[in-house]
Amino acid sequence: MDQKPQLAELGLFDAKVPRYTSYPTAPHFGDAVDPARFSSWVSKVAPGSSISLYVHVPFCRRLCWFCACRTQGTHSDAPVEAYVQVLKAEIALLRQQLPEGVTLSRLHWGGGTPTILSAELIRDLAGTIAEALPLAPRAEFSVEIDPNEIGGRRLEALAETGMTRASVGVQDFDTAIQQAIGRIQSFESTRTAIEQLRAHGITSLSADILFGLPHQTPARMTESVQKLVSLTPGRVAVYGYAHVPWMAGRQCMIRSDALPTPEARLELFETARRLFLWDGYREIGIDHFARPGDGLAAAQRTGRLRRNFQGCTDDPAEVLIGIGASAVSRFPQGYAQNAPGTSAYIRSIREGRFATARGHAFGGEDLLRARLIEALMCDFSISREEILSRFAVTDAGLDRMFAEAEAAFPGMLSVTAKGLAIHDEARPLTRMIARSFDTYDLSKATHSAAF
Ligand SMILES: C[S@@+](CC[C@H](N)C(=O)[O-])C[C@H]1O[C@@H](n2cnc3c(N)ncnc32)[C@H](O)[C@@H]1O
Ligand code: SF4
Repeated sequence: MDQKPQLAELGLFDAKVPRYTSYPTAPHFGDAVDPARFSSWVSKVAPGSSISLYVHVPFCRRLCWFCACRTQGTHSDAPVEAYVQVLKAEIALLRQQLPEGVTLSRLHWGGGTPTILSAELIRDLAGTIAEALPLAPRAEFSVEIDPNEIGGRRLEALAETGMTRASVGVQDFDTAIQQAIGRIQSFESTRTAIEQLRAHGITSLSADILFGLPHQTPARMTESVQKLVSLTPGRVAVYGYAHVPWMAGRQCMIRSDALPTPEARLELFETARRLFLWDGYREIGIDHFARPGDGLAAAQRTGRLRRNFQGCTDDPAEVLIGIGASAVSRFPQGYAQNAPGTSAYIRSIREGRFATARGHAFGGEDLLRARLIEALMCDFSISREEILSRFAVTDAGLDRMFAEAEAAFPGMLSVTAKGLAIHDEARPLTRMIARSFDTYDLSKATHSAAF
């Protein structure tokens, strides 16, 4: 049965909703979290524990029109070299504040384009991190890769310093779409980059593709997905293109009249979804697919999926520290975000201070609601037993929350003794259903299409 009319009636094609990579979402962060508070949270990390580290590199050689990430273009290496020295100084500040024996269960370099670093800078930065915060046994060290900005020496440096996973930006293989989004990248260059990664022993591969791009059709999506599947990545993120030119000025280069309608976006996602499932991938949360042997699929089977700023993850760490401009950290006490502008970030670290600009200290029902939303985004369901055992909420209190969601989305959810589950055909509504558990969500200015 075609579910579209029912989904339309519930507002799917008009709604603007957050992506919930945090709760509360970043627009609700405030200045109550400053460098002193960040520092006190860092000092409370358990001695000898394993944490995650995210390193943000806000530079690119090319600036793709579609990209909503905060990044600046540079032809010269000088700003990148200077920035790496500041990252090293931030790591030294962290080391002073962290208790002894802390190791990394995850290290992720993202951006921007972290592979803009030369082989020497990669070794320098990775060496500094390893000295201050060594990788724990079986740790994952992942790096975001633009296939146009990688080469043999840099790959060698990354492999030697312990990189285990590459996250490769694909977006779409169709040349007309690539022209429309200002990102030219041949299938051959992507295939070569992946072959080189594998030749260097980096065998865990993720790829990002987008739906909702200008001129995208189900036929073109089919061709792109088939090409991607031929490269056999273990994991794929399928993100909805967020067209937010008021936030990302470059997107003005993209003609909005060439963008698919919200209904067509759903069709594009469903096309990709069918192909991945048909090819043996598992559906992981709202925007990922993974082969059964991949860590995300294993985490899904055992109820360990989480959601963080990089999307879906099997990272079990309680603490994620983000370094670099705009990077976000998450502690059991709350979120802290570094100054978003590169110059303000650099100034602060050079003056010997953490660069925390804003954040959110958890209070009230924050942690409960964060988990309810995370569970929906990852598992499309909420386990009553898990919530009652972890949070100070009564069965009756939880029932009230579930009843409110059920009333807002009639016929789309089932509420039982086990908990709440979203019906398969209602999965496109997941972000909207998650929003019904969000008590902060009043302003919609920064949200993107629900589908
Ligand atoms: C920060 S980029 C870094 C990737 C790397 N620099 C590259 O070019 O491949 C990571 C991912 O964010 C996603 N992304 C960027 N802009 C987006 C947008 N406007 N809407 C949805 N996803 C977007 C893309 O899928 C991209 O691969
Ligand atoms: S997609 Fe990657 S290379 Fe392109 S602008 Fe964004 S971060 Fe830079």
